[in-house]
Amino acid sequence: MERKWWQDKVCYQIWPKSFQDSNGDGVGDIPGIIARLDHLKGLGVDILWLSPVYKSPLADQGYDIADYRGIDPRFGTLEDMDRLLAETKRRGMYVIMDLVANHCSDEHPWFRKALSDPEGPYGRYFYFRKGENGAPPTNWRGYFGGSVWSPVPGRKDLYYLHLFCEKQPDLNWQNPAVRREVMEMVNWWLDRGVAGFRIDAIVNIGKPERWESFAPDRPDGLADCRKMLADPVARRRLHTYLGQLRDEAFAPHDAFTVGEVFDTDPAELSLFIGRGGFFSSMFDFSAACWGKSPKGWYAAKKPGPDDYRDCAFASARQAAGIGFLSNIIENHDEPRGVSHYLPEEAASDPRAQKALAAVQMLLPGLPFLYQGQEIGMTNTVFPSIDGVDDVNTRGEYAAALAAGLSPAEALARVAPMSRDNARTPVQWTDGHAAGFTAGTPWLPVNPNYTRVNVQAQDGVAGSVLEFYKQLISLRKNDKYKEALVWGGFAPVHQEQPGLAAFVRDGGGRRLLVASNLSGGEQRLELPGAAGAVLLCSDGAPALAHGVLTLAPWQAAVVELA
Ligand code: GLC
Repeated sequence: MERKWWQDKVCYQIWPKSFQDSNGDGVGDIPGIIARLDHLKGLGVDILWLSPVYKSPLADQGYDIADYRGIDPRFGTLEDMDRLLAETKRRGMYVIMDLVANHCSDEHPWFRKALSDPEGPYGRYFYFRKGENGAPPTNWRGYFGGSVWSPVPGRKDLYYLHLFCEKQPDLNWQNPAVRREVMEMVNWWLDRGVAGFRIDAIVNIGKPERWESFAPDRPDGLADCRKMLADPVARRRLHTYLGQLRDEAFAPHDAFTVGEVFDTDPAELSLFIGRGGFFSSMFDFSAACWGKSPKGWYAAKKPGPDDYRDCAFASARQAAGIGFLSNIIENHDEPRGVSHYLPEEAASDPRAQKALAAVQMLLPGLPFLYQGQEIGMTNTVFPSIDGVDDVNTRGEYAAALAAGLSPAEALARVAPMSRDNARTPVQWTDGHAAGFTAGTPWLPVNPNYTRVNVQAQDGVAGSVLEFYKQLISLRKNDKYKEALVWGGFAPVHQEQPGLAAFVRDGGGRRLLVASNLSGGEQRLELPGAAGAVLLCSDGAPALAHGVLTLAPWQAAVVELA
């Protein structure tokens, strides 16, 4: 595999609105991020992915961009952004931005001009279609529920397409002028010093030739819009546009790019992340998608630790010899990993949180932490649907009601999946608003902040935070890097419930990573003679006669002779 500058890095996602507020308005901002860079440096992370900070009405929390080259005043200024780039560079760190170009905001000047003249040049930046007999052009349901079509104000029977909310009109990538705008904007940021991009919702940019309704798949009479993405023409278009992005923007800058790619055929993996692929990396969403139901969140199954293990291991094997997947247990669209993958009674248990961390951080691929993960932040509490901010959760709640659930049941079922779980402010201290803001936080702080916060863990032996630091420094240690970054991967005793174990080998070293993802003891025969114990989450593991015994929720890394 070709060696690249980003392969031995550790990445960290910042969701700016909830990271750190510097001016007391209750909303996180770029100066707040700068103020916390030493925390991130101390943790050992290198590449920071910033969720959108562009000018935006925040209808989908910044994933609705009104100006691709402007910073939203709530987050700061372009000068703040330049300062962040300089401050990270000084610390040997990198910043990647979020490239959200499947759609923009309905408040972007392009869309405003398009609405005033849908047949004009800016009309061709979007998808306008005529309806039939008062009905929208197709019966596609958007990602957040409801039709993907909204009527153009004042125009009878003309609609515009939005796969996400009505304030996120889809950009028409078939129009070369749109692609030109995107390439220029991407190059503008790369020239400014951004190291690359996380690429949002990108599989949606290729649209099919024929736009047809599908058989309805829910009581709302609509059909999942994703069905059209499988169309061969849509797929071919996607590949063409991604090739252009790579050739005209990413490759000339040697940028690091990570795609938000769902529903790929394993056969496409080399096209996306292989040598000369569209992206440097793409997220492995296999565990995140486990248990999801076409009916909606209310019908989703909760995965357990073994499901997480099996998904992660299968993906690692698929990507072997091809490229680097990006490994997550959570992000701004998912529940908190510890709440989602660990059994309920263990979600807040630091031992269990560390055991899960060991697996994620030492798998092949690139580890991505999400803000607050490093201290074991958990899902929050939802007293009522009125307190929910996220558009997605509100859509899923409506779908649950439509399926006949009572309001209380609907809330109880969608709450564990809500995107607000990951969006509560980062818990820095046990003081006012968890040290996130001097004012009133835009979204309530998780009530467990008095116990779970950075201050309580920083420098405290045995804490989740200190264990993450150890995992990261082990990964970066020159002695073990060949094995842990570029080396092979072989699962060990995968059939054993509650155990996630694998061997990483490279550079003449073999390391066994063994994590007890259960509340009982786990014993495993070592796949080789035991050498030094390089790391243990709690205490020391018991090693005798070629057998490793792990205490409940204990994780260890053992060098094999
Ligand atoms: C991606 C983002 C999500 C956003 C959507 C629309 O899935 O991660 O937060 O709502 O795209 O941009």
